[in-house]
Amino acid sequence: MIGALNHVAIVVPDLEAAAQRYRDTFGAEVSSPTDLPEQGVTTVFVALGNTKIELLHPLGEGSPVAKFLERHPAGGMHHLCFEVEDIAAATQKLTAGGVRVLGDGRPSTGAHGKPVVFLHPKDCFGTLIEIEEA
Ligand code: CO
Repeated sequence: MIGALNHVAIVVPDLEAAAQRYRDTFGAEVSSPTDLPEQGVTTVFVALGNTKIELLHPLGEGSPVAKFLERHPAGGMHHLCFEVEDIAAATQKLTAGGVRVLGDGRPSTGAHGKPVVFLHPKDCFGTLIEIEEA
Protein backbone atom coordinates (compact mmCIF):
# COMPACT_ATOMS: atom_id res chain seq x y z
CA MET A 1 0.00 0.00 0.00
CA ILE A 2 2.63 2.60 0.92
CA GLY A 3 4.74 3.82 -1.95
CA ALA A 4 7.80 6.02 -2.19
CA LEU A 5 9.40 7.92 0.67
CA ASN A 6 8.21 11.41 -0.29
CA HIS A 7 10.32 13.22 2.29
CA VAL A 8 12.09 13.17 5.63
CA ALA A 9 11.20 16.21 7.75
CA ILE A 10 13.69 17.94 10.02
CA VAL A 11 12.76 20.71 12.44
CA VAL A 12 15.40 23.44 12.45
CA PRO A 13 15.89 26.43 14.77
CA ASP A 14 17.08 28.70 11.93
CA LEU A 15 15.46 28.05 8.55
CA GLU A 16 17.75 30.37 6.57
CA ALA A 17 20.89 28.87 8.09
CA ALA A 18 19.64 25.34 7.38
CA ALA A 19 18.65 26.19 3.79
CA GLN A 20 22.05 27.81 3.25
CA ARG A 21 23.84 24.74 4.62
CA TYR A 22 22.00 22.37 2.29
CA ARG A 23 22.36 24.72 -0.71
CA ASP A 24 25.91 26.01 -0.31
CA THR A 25 27.69 23.27 1.65
CA PHE A 26 25.87 20.14 0.49
CA GLY A 27 25.28 21.60 -2.98
CA ALA A 28 21.62 20.62 -3.08
CA GLU A 29 18.72 22.26 -4.89
CA VAL A 30 16.74 24.18 -2.24
CA SER A 31 13.28 25.77 -2.57
CA SER A 32 12.20 29.18 -1.28
CA PRO A 33 10.50 29.20 2.15
CA THR A 34 6.73 28.59 2.01
CA ASP A 35 4.32 29.38 4.85
CA LEU A 36 1.68 26.73 5.59
CA PRO A 37 -0.66 28.41 8.08
CA GLU A 38 -2.95 25.36 8.21
CA GLN A 39 -0.02 23.23 9.44
CA GLY A 40 1.60 25.96 11.57
CA VAL A 41 4.93 25.66 9.81
CA THR A 42 7.21 27.31 7.28
CA THR A 43 8.85 24.79 4.97
CA VAL A 44 11.88 24.65 2.71
CA PHE A 45 12.31 21.61 0.48
CA VAL A 46 15.69 20.15 -0.38
CA ALA A 47 15.51 18.08 -3.59
CA LEU A 48 17.51 14.85 -3.58
CA GLY A 49 17.74 12.26 -6.34
CA ASN A 50 15.30 9.78 -4.83
CA THR A 51 13.43 11.79 -2.17
CA LYS A 52 13.34 15.18 -0.43
CA ILE A 53 14.17 16.72 2.89
CA GLU A 54 11.53 19.03 4.35
CA LEU A 55 13.06 21.66 6.64
CA LEU A 56 10.43 22.81 9.14
CA HIS A 57 10.22 25.89 11.31
CA PRO A 58 7.31 26.97 13.58
CA LEU A 59 4.83 29.47 12.14
CA GLY A 60 2.34 31.37 14.29
CA GLU A 61 0.95 30.60 17.73
CA GLY A 62 0.48 26.99 18.83
CA SER A 63 2.63 25.55 16.05
CA PRO A 64 2.92 21.76 16.45
CA VAL A 65 6.66 21.97 15.91
CA ALA A 66 7.28 24.71 18.52
CA LYS A 67 7.18 22.18 21.38
CA PHE A 68 9.49 19.87 19.43
CA LEU A 69 12.00 22.70 19.14
CA GLU A 70 11.73 23.36 22.88
CA ARG A 71 12.65 19.72 23.55
CA HIS A 72 15.28 19.63 20.79
CA PRO A 73 16.75 23.17 20.61
CA ALA A 74 19.38 22.18 18.03
CA GLY A 75 16.68 20.66 15.78
CA GLY A 76 16.12 17.05 14.84
CA MET A 77 14.26 14.54 12.73
CA HIS A 78 10.50 15.08 12.98
CA HIS A 79 8.65 12.74 10.60
CA LEU A 80 8.75 10.48 7.56
CA CYS A 81 6.27 10.96 4.70
CA PHE A 82 5.12 8.01 2.58
CA GLU A 83 3.07 8.32 -0.59
CA VAL A 84 -0.20 6.47 -1.12
CA GLU A 85 -2.51 6.39 -4.13
CA ASP A 86 -5.78 6.73 -2.21
CA ILE A 87 -5.62 8.41 1.19
CA ALA A 88 -9.17 7.45 2.20
CA ALA A 89 -8.52 3.75 1.52
CA ALA A 90 -5.09 3.92 3.18
CA THR A 91 -6.50 5.64 6.28
CA GLN A 92 -9.23 3.02 6.55
CA LYS A 93 -6.75 0.16 6.30
CA LEU A 94 -4.39 1.73 8.84
CA THR A 95 -7.19 2.46 11.30
CA ALA A 96 -8.50 -1.10 10.93
CA GLY A 97 -4.96 -2.31 11.70
CA GLY A 98 -4.85 -0.36 14.96
CA VAL A 99 -2.96 2.74 13.85
CA ARG A 100 -4.47 5.97 15.13
CA VAL A 101 -4.76 9.01 12.88
CA LEU A 102 -3.95 12.30 14.64
CA GLY A 103 -6.45 15.17 14.84
CA ASP A 104 -10.02 14.63 13.67
CA GLY A 105 -8.92 11.79 11.41
CA ARG A 106 -9.65 13.70 8.24
CA PRO A 107 -6.97 14.74 5.75
CA SER A 108 -5.60 18.29 5.80
CA THR A 109 -3.69 20.03 3.03
CA GLY A 110 0.01 19.24 3.11
CA ALA A 111 3.10 20.97 1.81
CA HIS A 112 2.44 19.95 -1.80
CA GLY A 113 -1.21 21.05 -1.80
CA LYS A 114 -2.28 17.40 -1.51
CA PRO A 115 -4.28 15.65 1.22
CA VAL A 116 -2.22 14.35 4.15
CA VAL A 117 -2.81 12.66 7.49
CA PHE A 118 -0.41 12.09 10.37
CA LEU A 119 -0.26 8.79 12.26
CA HIS A 120 0.24 8.39 16.00
CA PRO A 121 3.96 7.82 16.77
CA LYS A 122 3.06 5.35 19.54
CA ASP A 123 1.42 3.14 16.92
CA CYS A 124 4.48 3.42 14.61
CA PHE A 125 7.33 2.47 16.95
CA GLY A 126 8.15 6.01 18.03
CA THR A 127 8.16 7.63 14.60
CA LEU A 128 5.67 10.27 13.45
CA ILE A 129 4.50 9.26 9.98
CA GLU A 130 2.78 11.44 7.39
CA ILE A 131 0.80 9.81 4.60
CA GLU A 132 0.35 11.87 1.42
CA GLU A 133 -1.91 11.15 -1.53
CA ALA A 134 0.49 11.41 -4.45
CO1 CO B 1 5.93 16.47 5.85
